[in-house]
Amino acid sequence: MFIFKSAVLLHSELTRLQKNGRSIGFVPTMGALHQGHLSLLERAKAENDTVVCSIFVNPKQFDDEMDLVNYPDPIQTDIEYLRELNLDYLFHPDVDQVYGPDYVDIDVPLNGLDLVFEGEQRPGHFQGVAKVIRRFFDIVQPTRAYFGQKDFQQTVVVRHLIQHFGLNTDLVVCPIVREHHGLAMSSRNERLEASKRERASFIYKSLLKLKERCYFKSLGEALEITTNYLQSIEDANLEYLVCVNGVTMQEVKSLDDADYIVACTVVEFGGVRLLDNIVLKDNLNNP
Ligand code: PAF
Repeated sequence: MFIFKSAVLLHSELTRLQKNGRSIGFVPTMGALHQGHLSLLERAKAENDTVVCSIFVNPKQFDDEMDLVNYPDPIQTDIEYLRELNLDYLFHPDVDQVYGPDYVDIDVPLNGLDLVFEGEQRPGHFQGVAKVIRRFFDIVQPTRAYFGQKDFQQTVVVRHLIQHFGLNTDLVVCPIVREHHGLAMSSRNERLEASKRERASFIYKSLLKLKERCYFKSLGEALEITTNYLQSIEDANLEYLVCVNGVTMQEVKSLDDADYIVACTVVEFGGVRLLDNIVLKDNLNNP
C-alpha cells in the first residue's frame, strides 16, 4: 500500500493511472475504521482497478471544537487494517495539504439540504462535508465514490454536489452494516454500555415495522404508530422520525409523493445520539 501525504503527488500518480485506462474507486473516511468502512472498501475493490482510501479528520465539518479535539485517531491500527485488505493507496494529508494557501473557501450551493434535520442540529456540518469532498474529488478524480447509507443526508448532499458541478464520478451508496442484533454500526456505539447496545436494536426493529405498516396503512398512520412506540421506550428520547424525498430531503405525506422515499430517525439512547434510516420506496435507483 502506498501512503501519500501530498495532494499534488497523489493527483499526478492517479492521473497517470487514469491515462492508462484504470478506474479509480474512492472511499473517504475520517479514520477509526470499522466494519462499515470495510464494506465500502470491499465494494470499491470489487468494482474498480485501483482503490484510494482517505483518512482525514476534516476540521470544517465540526461545529463543536471539543468534538474535533476528542475525535479518535488510531492511525497505526487503521494503516495495519488497510494493509491487510491490500489497499492500493491511502491518502493521509495534513490540514495544509487540503486547505492550503491557494484554497478558496467559498460555500457550496446546497439548496438548503444542509439546513434541515442533521444540518439543523449541527450548523455548518454539511457545508464542511461538501467542501472537503469537492476538494478530494478534485485531487482523486474518482470514477466511483463510496458512501454509507447510514449517514443518509450526507449521501444526498454528495449527490447534489456531483450534479451541481457536473462531476464525472458515480456515487455508490452502500447498505447499512448492522451489529448482529440490528443496531446500525457506528463508532458512536462504543460509547454505549454492552446491555444498552443490544437493547438499542429497538430502533431498527421499529423502522422495519414502519416499512411493513406503510404498505397497508397510510404513511401518516404508520408514522404515528411508530412515533408513539419510539416515544414510549424507557431511557430513549426520540429526536425525530421523518419520511423524506431521498433527493430533496423534503418531508413527504404519502408514498405517492416521490420516487425515492426514506424514513430517517435519530434517537438518543443511553446518552448517545443514534442515527438510522430505511428505504421505503426506491424507483429512482431500482426503477
Ligand atoms: O462520513 C465521514 O466519515 C465524513 O463525513 C467524510 C465523508 C469522510 C468527509 O469528511
